[in-house]
Amino acid sequence: MQDYPAYVGLFSQDAAVHIRPAFRGPEAHTTRTAHDHPTRKINPFFRWSFLKMLLNMKRLLTHWQVGDGREARLVEHVLATARPGNVGDAIRAIDEFAYHTAFLINVGDEKGRILDDAITEAEPRRILELGTYCGYSALRMAKAAPDAQIFSIEFSADNAALARRIFAHAGVDSRITVVVGTLGDGGKTVQTLVDLHGFTPGSVDVVFVDHAKDAYLPDLRLIEDRGWLHTGSVVVADNVKFPGAPEYRAYMHQAEGRAWRTTEHETHVEYQSLLKDLVLVSERI
Ligand SMILES: C[S@@+](CC[C@H](N)C(=O)[O-])C[C@H]1O[C@@H](n2cnc3c(N)ncnc32)[C@H](O)[C@@H]1O
Repeated sequence: MQDYPAYVGLFSQDAAVHIRPAFRGPEAHTTRTAHDHPTRKINPFFRWSFLKMLLNMKRLLTHWQVGDGREARLVEHVLATARPGNVGDAIRAIDEFAYHTAFLINVGDEKGRILDDAITEAEPRRILELGTYCGYSALRMAKAAPDAQIFSIEFSADNAALARRIFAHAGVDSRITVVVGTLGDGGKTVQTLVDLHGFTPGSVDVVFVDHAKDAYLPDLRLIEDRGWLHTGSVVVADNVKFPGAPEYRAYMHQAEGRAWRTTEHETHVEYQSLLKDLVLVSERI
């Protein structure tokens, strides 16, 4: 089902998001504010696909698909409208679908720019992503870091299969490996990363955390305990304000200046401009 036509045209793909430091200085823990265009307010509660997702929240948080087939339709949309072998065009097609056809729980374009900047600055060779969904953020990272290998952990085998189809179409399947599992599954996925994918101490340059919110902190602690990070490794965490990962945020606060240096980016939940969110970019020191 298409969203209300009144909604269409309220946004521009090219609308720039300006990252302005609300506070910057030598003190620890910086906050930055991402401004959306005030004339282009997008209220998600006017979208049937967003309301439907809220109604199906219980299912979404257990199966990690909304339940109306939108994720499978997204893949058909990308395959039909994005130029093969063109990562940027696949990203464009996914944003187009999420704005005009059905809301998706991708990191989205506004927060995606914060992710892009962190990746570009870190120049990673190896990225670990927690939470693939349909592959949108992995595509953004593959574009921002053309020399990186990305290993994306995904709980849902169905989502992994959808993402792989998009990666193949975009021509980045040799650079993005989706591993079905979770870091908390008793060692199976960790062992796969070690045995099959060469995860060794100090080998991970960037982690993007965007999966179950209550797994953010335990999975970060596991990654720290494994020693996979090095000084200068960067961890980017989405949804820290909404739906929220308060334990993760508190951990980064108390580790500030000792193990981590964090910038909090004030931004919005994906594909709308009403609900606020925080993206944390933390550098290992
Ligand atoms: C918000 S979506 C990820 C969006 C994706 N990063 C993007 O921006 O395109 C969350 C995904 O995490 C997956 N997930 C949930 N719990 C997980 C866990 N413990 N480990 C790995 N993946 C998990 C879900 O199946 C879902 O596909």
